[in-house]
Amino acid sequence: MSGKQTLKQGEKVLFGIFGAFIVAAVLGYAVLEFVRLSSEKPMFEVKTRYEFTEEGQRGSKVFREARCTSCHRAMRNGTNMGLSLDGLGSKRTSEWIYAFLKNPEENYGAATIDHGMRPKEAAYVAEMEDADLRAITAFLFGLKAEQGAASSPVPPEGKSQFIDGMLKMVAPPDWSEKYSDIREKDVNTEDANPDSEVEAR
Ligand code: HEC
Repeated sequence: MSGKQTLKQGEKVLFGIFGAFIVAAVLGYAVLEFVRLSSEKPMFEVKTRYEFTEEGQRGSKVFREARCTSCHRAMRNGTNMGLSLDGLGSKRTSEWIYAFLKNPEENYGAATIDHGMRPKEAAYVAEMEDADLRAITAFLFGLKAEQGAASSPVPPEGKSQFIDGMLKMVAPPDWSEKYSDIREKDVNTEDANPDSEVEAR
């Protein structure tokens, strides 16, 4: 066995750079956590909330046990790879959710990928016991999103530079001739039902 091995110049530089990255990441994280914990205002406003009946609470358990979380995300549980169900109760009625779970292909309004008849991967969902599907419906309908939440169908109130910027960048210039801006609904249609754009989905 040869004795001590010394690092070459290049290795020292490489490890030095690598070490500097780690130190910067740890410091950044520490500062972020410090600011987050010591600031009085929450860094991110929480705009999703949960309203569960007793049946909804049971549904939450059924939801996890029935492996819905392998494709969905709800209340911080589940995968980011699939469709997030947070805020679903502000987008869909409970009748819609139940009808979808029971007969996905008739009620989805588009071709389904995973829900539906065998051999689709989530075919088992429609075959679950009725009481379990009702409990899951109560759970999913309890997942609410306030206006402006990422999972809300309604954009944030008031002016948003971000939305205006995105519109300028990606929407064709004549979009406002074909579509109306739902952020201006109060200006254009004073007597409009405030929930109409949610129900229209
Ligand atoms: C294999 C993946 C997979 C599994 C497992 C799965 N889903 Fe889905 N789910 C999807 C996909 C994909 C969609 C979109 C519709 C489609 O293409 O089938 C969807 C759509 C939905 C929707 C409609 C959402 C909307 O508003 O459009 C609901 C509700 C839903 N799933 C609930 C469930 C529940 C409850 C379970 C468990 C009992 C479950 N899913 C299991 C993949 C899955």
